[in-house]
Amino acid sequence: MKKVLVTGGAGFIGSNFIKYLADMRGSWTIVNLDALTYAGNLENLKDLEGSEHYIFAKGDITDRMLVESLFETHGFDYVINFAAESHVDRSIKEPELFIKTNVLGTQCLLDAAKTSWQTGRDADGYPVYRNGVKYLQVSTDEVYGALGNTGKFTETTPLAPNSPYSASKASADMLARAYHRTYRLPVNITRCSNNYGPYQFPEKLIPLMIVNTLDSKPLPVYGDGLQVRDWLHVKDHCSAILTVLEKGQPGEVYNIGGNNERANIEIVRLILKTLGKTEDLIRHVEDRLGHDRRYAIDNTKITTELGWEPAYTFEQGIKETIEWYCTHTDWLSHVRSGAYMAYCESHYGNKSRPGGI
Ligand code: NAD
Ligand code: TYD
Repeated sequence: MKKVLVTGGAGFIGSNFIKYLADMRGSWTIVNLDALTYAGNLENLKDLEGSEHYIFAKGDITDRMLVESLFETHGFDYVINFAAESHVDRSIKEPELFIKTNVLGTQCLLDAAKTSWQTGRDADGYPVYRNGVKYLQVSTDEVYGALGNTGKFTETTPLAPNSPYSASKASADMLARAYHRTYRLPVNITRCSNNYGPYQFPEKLIPLMIVNTLDSKPLPVYGDGLQVRDWLHVKDHCSAILTVLEKGQPGEVYNIGGNNERANIEIVRLILKTLGKTEDLIRHVEDRLGHDRRYAIDNTKITTELGWEPAYTFEQGIKETIEWYCTHTDWLSHVRSGAYMAYCESHYGNKSRPGGI
């Protein structure tokens, strides 16, 4: 029976993970610490309301006193840090918030875990920790930078982040690594490719294109739309995280990818076709600054060393995801509040490329 701190559990991947964990490890206690930013939505977790194994704590991962008091109260065995500012476009406009949450927040969690788990020191002065504890940092393939037409990211690819978002995630990874090397804190870092699936906030490519298609609104494709991402179903990501949590070697990094490389324009066309709309809705708009051309993950390490495999094909996953958005109109209307509309207006309203929206 483990006690788990999940941060950012009201967001897209965190909420999918909490539900997955509650299904897979029903006797564990899960505490969800989430600041409920624009991206956090407790509606994602309403099935767990009232469960004796689930506790929600509203708060910020940079709030040291709060984080320490949660450790004292609950005596966590595991920490899984999903909490982050996660959208590249927002990071280009407002980098500072990304540094605060993604870097300082990670350090605060690492410190609290180290203090709470330490039982003494060894003969060389290194901290010794209680058995069976682990800190898992959820990171991204974007820390590796961009690829050309060939090759894939492995765990030894040098970090070369290109956006303020990926730079903040790389910084957090470096802190997690340093806490392992300097303090021997049992840490894993996972770096996954682009996730898709239910409960994703419609600022990211796939849900944005689905909701705009449903509304017959223009579909804003950045630049030529030939940028490539490696798509991973969120449920496959959840199973990979639990695998790393339970089987990963302390101090190791694991890449998680679904072997699903697609150009953005290909995805946009597939969504239009599935929903019976024509390509007239596509608008090529001004490109993102510093836009990474291609990401691709080599997942050999996690598949061969830990025995994890993705279960979804992209065809099945995207079909189910489109159906989910078509049948969860209440959820969609709640997350598309005035603030969401204001973001869309400020972000897409001023795209200036000829023919843009
Ligand atoms: P998301 O934006 O949907 O959710 C982030 C959650 O963190 C929200 O619930 C938000 O309220 C919470 N949060 C933000 N700042 C906080 C703070 N200071 N304190 C506490 N909570 C805070 O993000 P997501 O897509 O679910 O991503 C989860 C993690 O996975 C992130 O660390 C992200 O970098 C990483 N990741 C995401 C993807 C992807 O495709 N979505 C890919 C690779 C890695
Ligand atoms: P996104 O979902 O923001 O994820 P990331 O930038 O982390 O990969 O974007 C995925 C791809 O889709 C990326 O190449 C940018 C592109 N994109 C568009 O073309 N139009 C859009 O409106 C958005 C949000 C993204």
